[in-house]
Amino acid sequence: MKKPVIKIENLEKSFGKGQAKTRVLKGIDLDIFPGEFVIIFGPSGCGKSTLLNTIVGLEKPTSGKVFLKGADVYLLKDDERSTLRHNHFGIVYQQANWIQSLNILENVAFPLNIGGYTYLRSLTRSRNALTLFNLDKFSKNRPTELSGGQQQKVATVRALISNPEIILADEPTGNLDKISSDDLMYVFKSLNEEFKRTIVMVTHNPEYEKFASKLVFMEDGKIKEVRLVREVALSPNLESRDIIMGS
Ligand SMILES: Nc1ncnc2c1ncn2[C@@H]1O[C@H](COP(=O)(O)OP(=O)(O)OP(=O)(O)O)[C@@H](O)[C@H]1O
Ligand SMILES: [Mg+2]
Repeated sequence: MKKPVIKIENLEKSFGKGQAKTRVLKGIDLDIFPGEFVIIFGPSGCGKSTLLNTIVGLEKPTSGKVFLKGADVYLLKDDERSTLRHNHFGIVYQQANWIQSLNILENVAFPLNIGGYTYLRSLTRSRNALTLFNLDKFSKNRPTELSGGQQQKVATVRALISNPEIILADEPTGNLDKISSDDLMYVFKSLNEEFKRTIVMVTHNPEYEKFASKLVFMEDGKIKEVRLVREVALSPNLESRDIIMGS
C-alpha cells in the first residue's frame, strides 16, 4: 500500500471573527505521495498560499487535519512543529522574507545555523550552494541590492540548503523572465527526477503542467479537480543524496 507523505483531511481555514470572518479553505482533502511533483493552479485569492502555509505547520487550520508521514502536525507542540518543518521541508515563499541586516551568503546559511551547523560549516556549505547555482557573485550583497528575479533564485537555494526531502514552492518563477523561469523549472525537474524529492508547487503558468505528475486545480477555497498525470514509481529507499554536494 502506498502511504502519503502528506495527508490533508477536510481542512478548513477561516480568518477573522464574526461579521469579518472569511472562509478561505473550505474542506480540502489531498494526498501527496513520496516522489510526486504536484502543481497547484488556481485564481488569485483562492487559498493556494494559505494551503501551503497550513501544510508546513505555519497556519493552524480552523478544523481538519494535516499529517506528515503519519504525524498529526497540529497535535505537536510548537517547537516540535518547527523542528518537523526544519527537518523535512524546503520552502520557497511567494515573498522572500530576508533578514535585511545579513548579506546573501549569511541569509542562505541561516537555516543551517538554526539546524545546528557551526557558523563556519554553514558558510562553507552555503558558498558551495551559491556557486552551484552560479549566484556566488552576490554573496556579499544585501538582499535588496538584487533584482526580484535574482532574489527568487537565491530564495530557491536557501530552500534547498538543508537538503530537504519535500520542497514547497509558491510561485517561484513569479518574478522571472522566460529564460530564467525555464531554467528554474529544470532545477525543480532534476530535484524531482534525479534526487527523488517530493515537490509541491504553485504556479499560474499552464506551460509548466508538463513537469507535474499530479495537477491540482483550486477554486474559491476548494479543490475542483485532481488530475493524475503519471504514477510515480516508488522505491522503498528514496534517494538520500545531498542536493548541494551531489553525493
Ligand atoms: N493572515 C491573513 N489574514 C486575513 N486574511 C488572509 C490572511 N492570509 C490570507 N488571507 C485571505 O485569504 C484569501 C486567500 O489568500 P491566499 O494568499 O491563500 O491566496 P492565493 O491563492 O495564494 O492568491 P495569489 O495567487 O494571489 O497568491 C485571500 O482573500 C486573502 O486575503
Ligand atoms: Mg499566493
